[in-house]
Amino acid sequence: MLKKHVAFVLVMAAVLTVLLMAPEKKGSYYPADETHLNAVKATTKRDMHKECGKCHFKGGEYPIPDTHVKRTRCYGCHAPQPEPGE
Ligand code: HEC
Ligand code: HEC
Repeated sequence: MLKKHVAFVLVMAAVLTVLLMAPEKKGSYYPADETHLNAVKATTKRDMHKECGKCHFKGGEYPIPDTHVKRTRCYGCHAPQPEPGE
């Protein structure tokens, strides 16, 4: 009887974890290269767009499209490319 309860709680916990971890609409990964990892390190949540924007805003070497969301918290939606197999 008790065992059944424990199993039930465990299953519910697993289901909840999966639900909570489900991502909202994500942007693309950025390459996990030195440029990007250093840019992430050099910024705080508030000023990341300054660092990322050097290359990704108008006039930069890889500007984001005009249709891109006007938001500054880049890593809310973009994450480093995971290692293959992760
Ligand atoms: C020194 C310039 C530079 C900086 C700073 C920089 N990027 Fe990039 N980024 C690039 C270049 C160039 C590419 C595309 C070429 C490549 O794959 O390396 C790229 C690619 C990307 C991509 C993938 C685009 C695609 O086509 O899939 C994303 C997303 C991205 N960057 C986000 C960021 C974010 C977020 C930051 C800030 C943490 C940042 N970048 C900082 C130069 C930069
Ligand atoms: C609200 C979520 C969100 C935020 C915040 C966000 N992005 Fe994006 N981004 C996306 C999505 C979704 C795409 C892919 C669709 C598109 O191209 O609009 C994308 C695409 C990109 C691309 C690739 C464009 C291409 O040529 O394919 C780059 C580079 C990029 N974002 C950089 C940034 C940078 C730099 C910031 C911070 C200033 C940022 N993003 C903030 C959602 C976001």
